[in-house]
Amino acid sequence: MAETQQLAKETSENNTVTLIDNATGKQVTMPVLDGTEGPRVIDIRKLYQETGMFTFDPGFTSTGSCESGLTFIDGDVGTLMHCGYSIDELAEKSDFLEVCYLLLNGELPNKAQMEEFEYAITRHSMIHEQLHSFYHGFRRDAHPMAIMVGVVGALSAFYHDSTDIRDEHQRMIASRRLIAKMPTIAAWAYKYSIGQPMIYPRNDLNYAENFLHMIQATPCENYEVNPILARAMDRIFILHADHEQNASTSTVRLAGSSQANPFACIAAGIACLWGPAHGGANEAVLKMLDEIGSKDRVGSYIKRAKDKDDPFRLMGFGHRVYKNYDPRAKVMRETCHEVLDFLGIKDEPYLDLAMDLERIATEDEYFVEKKLYPNVDFYSGIILRAMGFPTTMFTVIFALARTVGWIAQWKEMIEDPVQKIGRPRQLYNGYSHRPYVPLDQRG
Ligand code: SDX
Repeated sequence: MAETQQLAKETSENNTVTLIDNATGKQVTMPVLDGTEGPRVIDIRKLYQETGMFTFDPGFTSTGSCESGLTFIDGDVGTLMHCGYSIDELAEKSDFLEVCYLLLNGELPNKAQMEEFEYAITRHSMIHEQLHSFYHGFRRDAHPMAIMVGVVGALSAFYHDSTDIRDEHQRMIASRRLIAKMPTIAAWAYKYSIGQPMIYPRNDLNYAENFLHMIQATPCENYEVNPILARAMDRIFILHADHEQNASTSTVRLAGSSQANPFACIAAGIACLWGPAHGGANEAVLKMLDEIGSKDRVGSYIKRAKDKDDPFRLMGFGHRVYKNYDPRAKVMRETCHEVLDFLGIKDEPYLDLAMDLERIATEDEYFVEKKLYPNVDFYSGIILRAMGFPTTMFTVIFALARTVGWIAQWKEMIEDPVQKIGRPRQLYNGYSHRPYVPLDQRG
């Protein structure tokens, strides 16, 4: 962060914009800041002080909320990188825990650093035994995301020794605890929902193997995790790790700006991710494919998606930043084919339908003109379903993987010297002042 901060300060004197208030003729000049990649930004921090006016940008379509060096998306080209490394290379050559280390430290680990990190994560994977009974307070048919929001929010009640956000060591422990415990929390939510005993993590398995083991194993027999499926799971985690200032990450940053403890902040991120416009889209894609049902009905749904008066949207399509193919969707589609081939699943109906939908949509002028392409959620559900996960677990898996992005962004914000509590303003459109009318004098 310090390096980027320095960069922002070094912009040249004439790197400015001047705003003219045509109502008063008043002019205000503001600095322009250059990052290492991406659009220049206008530093408007002094705008209200100098003009008495706010900017207005619902949905933050043109607003940068922070400086960050973790992830960069080039939406026009359709590329994504973490600390300079492209998602394609990381998905092919790295593994999820190494990407976690990269996001937490800004550099890839050497052998010793990776061994220490993996050892620590492995040994933080159990959760406090009393949390076991916490699950039993939920109905068996509770959505696993509801359980995850509740259990993660409750972690601060068990891990008081890593809630002091001003203590660097406690921040590191909390980060590692969250990354390590999410697979256990997620797997136990699934096991609870199907009435099976919760399976404890094992220290002889890697991160993705451990998760699949806790999902699939039972106390009745030995369960061997398939390495092909574990590799696919690990790659799916990598593809979901971090993604700039998306809605749930912005939620975590805003919660963290009030100095709330990290466990509470991540619980807020999980709640935001659940929405079908965001991380809940992977579950919504499968529901949409179910509703479409067959290729001969695709045309009518494309028509509905284009109809302004119809609230239906093509789930898994479109993105605030990508105006080209989401690079994660490409890797996800390849992984989808690999997993289905490995599982010997021929002519998977959802995949056939999804590919038909993608072909028709990406050739349709409405989608071309609006630059709507498949996003990360379009294919992920098909893979996860083929791997045996119920649709209710899809967003849980997204949240499990995104926890490293949320906590890395939270850590970057806490360590940002210019960080302050987030408190947006508004354009007020309510009543001007009016006197109170006693009840007996109202109409
Ligand atoms: C994720 O931000 C991130 O990085 C998120 C994420 C991450 O990793 O954190 O990438 C994960 O959330 C991916 C997105 C998953 N959501 C979906 O697949 C749900 C379907 N998609 C849409 O709801 C929508 O595309 C959003 C929410 C993803 C983006 O919405 P924007 O940026 O606010 O865009 P918009 O709604 O203003 O749409 C622009 C135009 C509109 O038409 P006009 O009003 O200009 O005429 O495109 C249309 C929209 O109606 N449009 C769609 C559409 N998405 C946008 N029309 C049909 N189907 C769609 N899917």
